[in-house]
Amino acid sequence: MYRTDIARPIRLTDYRAPDFHITDTRLDFDLHPTQTQVKATYSVERRGAEDAPLVLLGERLTLKTVRLDGADLTPADYQVTAETLTIKSVPDRFKLEIAVEINPQDNKTLEGLYMSSGRYCTQCEAEGFRKIVYFPDRPDVLSKYTVRMRAPKAGFPRLLSNGNLIETGEDGDAHYAVWEDPFPKPAYLFALVAGELDVLEDRFTTMSGRTVELKIFVDTGMSARAEYAMDALKRSMRWDEDAYGREYDLDLFMIVAVRDFNFGAMENKGLNIFNASLLLADPETATDLDYERIESVVAHEYFHNWSGNRVTCRDWFQLCLKEGLTVFRDQSFSGDQRGHAVQRIKDVKMLRARQFPEDAGPLAHPVRPASYLKIDNFYTATIYEKGAEIVGMLKTVVGPDVYRRALDHYFETNDGTAATLEDFLTSFEAVTGEDFAPWLKWYVQAGTPTLGIGVTYDAASKRLTLNLSQQTPPTPTQAHKSPVPIPVRLGLLTQDGAPLSFVHDGATVTDTLFLLTGERAQLIFEDVAEAPVVSALRGFSAPVKLRLDEPEAHRFARFRGDPDPFNRWEAAQSLAKALILDPQGSAADYAEALRATLSDATLDAAFKALMTALPTEMDLAQSLTPVDPAFIHARRKAFKTELAAALKTDAQALYDAVPAEVQFSPDAASAGRRALRNALLDLIVSVDPNTATTLAETHYRSATNMTDMIAGLNALSQIHGEPYQRALDHFYERYKFEPLVLDKWFAVQAACAHPETLERVRRLIAHPDFDRKVPNRWRSVAQAFAANNPAVFHDISGEGYAFIADEILSVDRFNPMTAARLIEAFGGFKRYAEPHAGLMKAVLERIVATDGLSKNVAELAGKALAG
Ligand code: TRP
Ligand code: ZN
Repeated sequence: MYRTDIARPIRLTDYRAPDFHITDTRLDFDLHPTQTQVKATYSVERRGAEDAPLVLLGERLTLKTVRLDGADLTPADYQVTAETLTIKSVPDRFKLEIAVEINPQDNKTLEGLYMSSGRYCTQCEAEGFRKIVYFPDRPDVLSKYTVRMRAPKAGFPRLLSNGNLIETGEDGDAHYAVWEDPFPKPAYLFALVAGELDVLEDRFTTMSGRTVELKIFVDTGMSARAEYAMDALKRSMRWDEDAYGREYDLDLFMIVAVRDFNFGAMENKGLNIFNASLLLADPETATDLDYERIESVVAHEYFHNWSGNRVTCRDWFQLCLKEGLTVFRDQSFSGDQRGHAVQRIKDVKMLRARQFPEDAGPLAHPVRPASYLKIDNFYTATIYEKGAEIVGMLKTVVGPDVYRRALDHYFETNDGTAATLEDFLTSFEAVTGEDFAPWLKWYVQAGTPTLGIGVTYDAASKRLTLNLSQQTPPTPTQAHKSPVPIPVRLGLLTQDGAPLSFVHDGATVTDTLFLLTGERAQLIFEDVAEAPVVSALRGFSAPVKLRLDEPEAHRFARFRGDPDPFNRWEAAQSLAKALILDPQGSAADYAEALRATLSDATLDAAFKALMTALPTEMDLAQSLTPVDPAFIHARRKAFKTELAAALKTDAQALYDAVPAEVQFSPDAASAGRRALRNALLDLIVSVDPNTATTLAETHYRSATNMTDMIAGLNALSQIHGEPYQRALDHFYERYKFEPLVLDKWFAVQAACAHPETLERVRRLIAHPDFDRKVPNRWRSVAQAFAANNPAVFHDISGEGYAFIADEILSVDRFNPMTAARLIEAFGGFKRYAEPHAGLMKAVLERIVATDGLSKNVAELAGKALAG
């Protein structure tokens, strides 16, 4: 058990270059479920002080032998603690051999070497390699790996690792393979897989004409379900060549899908490992959202080959150097594949749903944190999504051509090294000759800035004055903030929502970009023919909260006609929020504007689907203090019913007009049509229960793909009662042998807003198919309930809180990394009305008082309470 009371934080300011480098690493695995033997041979070189001891990191290892330049060391020569192996005196250059034994079968942390469905696999980011063997497990130690592995032929026909296969052979009932990775890499990118797997093969010709073998390994019989991922992979490879000039560098690229995985996927060099839920798809088992995520995660992990692997991070504080940039790259890719307007709206929805609350609560941290107990806790929306926004702002400010040159410079000058965020910004300075130091503020300062815009129009002079100001609120460890550079894209509209021209910097335009660098600035536009509607922060040009006092009519004008699709959607959402949170708010005008949007033939279905969906209860909770979950739930429901009643005929007609799919295609246009039809279904079913039941049941029964089936099930869950249960039973019978689909069956039920769900989740965790040790299955109940079911999670009895606290504590005993992520559900407790705040606080207190808590949960629960 960890002594959490003495856990010491790791600080960025304590960074020191490593004393030793390991130029070559040879690993030898004799795989066995409970007694795997690992022998490591390192070529070590001293780079630091001549008297520095060699300190290697290792956890849960049984040390067998240590040999230095061929001679056995005795325990007097070294010191072993729970986390280190220290050899006091070593020469400047030497060979070190270490043998340890590990137990993959018992490893339910799912980091290091573990077993999933009878196979061996690894997860080493961030600090999992130390659970395999003693090593300087830090990203700035880059080493060339040669890996030999041996396993029984029966049951383990495939033996995979990074790089190129250079030798195979037999050894009685066993066989072995030797892999060599020519690219020096940090230990977190090491991977190994052994077991029985089917493979889908293809090839890709790179821009310089090299042929790359592509192999996706999946469960036996599932290779057809990897076809979409393969297609996405080839499109990603081409895209990185076209958009960034980046070519793949090995002759082989492999992906393996596993069922037991803590996160989404991992970019190990030449051997990505994926959570099966983000790889396998066919129309019968995957929704359009699954396809969309598979496409973006396949791209994300592939893009890491340059942004992460060829250029890696000096230390884990620089995590967003690879993650923020790679998310930005995958978002751009998805936008190119599926349409930029819709992609931008989805990305911002996600940023606001997950990152804004994080930045506003006790778990707020800068994109480059200053300290941590467990780096696993920092794979957050702030590092990923806010990190991506910063790259996006840089691109907005310098423009696409300069951006490309800056990135070329970054990849070329840092190739093969472990870099920092300063190195990234330096590349922008190198190609522009300008100072990018102010941008570092975005990386080191937590909290979401507020951008205020004051509008004054003088009809006599036809002059518009905009007073811009910014302010970032204090966060737990940073009381005082300074201004950050904020790119503000803005345009003007007439009161009817038509573009309105103006003169700025001598040019006549309808749209402009301004960079706010200080606390305030004044912008003057001339020749503005009438009092305008201001369309500010177009495309969400910066991750800030906009404060612009304006009449409701201005928002309606943008709702009806802003040529910027993001701001059109934004206007609708902000109106909906205001109207829902106002106990007297009426849906009448909103319904009229939505009717016009839905009948606009120039808009695509995917965009209309986004316009049709009302802000979620989680969105609404961010705009109300103190948060009253029952009020939000009731008001949203009432508003939706009123909206549905007003639009009933049109919505039904539109629903009927969407043609049924003859043949399923996952492409964006087809997915958009399904999304619109399903968004309309969701709206229509809130009118009256009788017609709703018939419609939802028919929708469910006649579905020919998983997208429509889940939409039908969700519609039935809103109505609840017998038809819902009937559909659930039918679904279970049909998919009980499909784990990924069964995850959805659990998740739909856990997210159902009916009060009965409080009892149902307790039945679900007693279900024979429930398994806490499989993160996907556990999250399908625990996460779906805590994050997607505010009405029931926040039940005033406090039972929802107790349920989730018990779940966190149960999982923390064997998988701290996954358990800790759910602490987020209690993060904003101070913003809630009583009795919620007190009940959530009590639950957090119970968690921190628990004996044997992991560092992971201790760190987050402690912060959540203190904040
Ligand atoms: N680097 C991975 C990605 O973003 C994510 C990752 C980090 C991860 N740590 C992990 C995945 C642990 C699984 C388990 O692409
Ligand atoms: Zn990543």
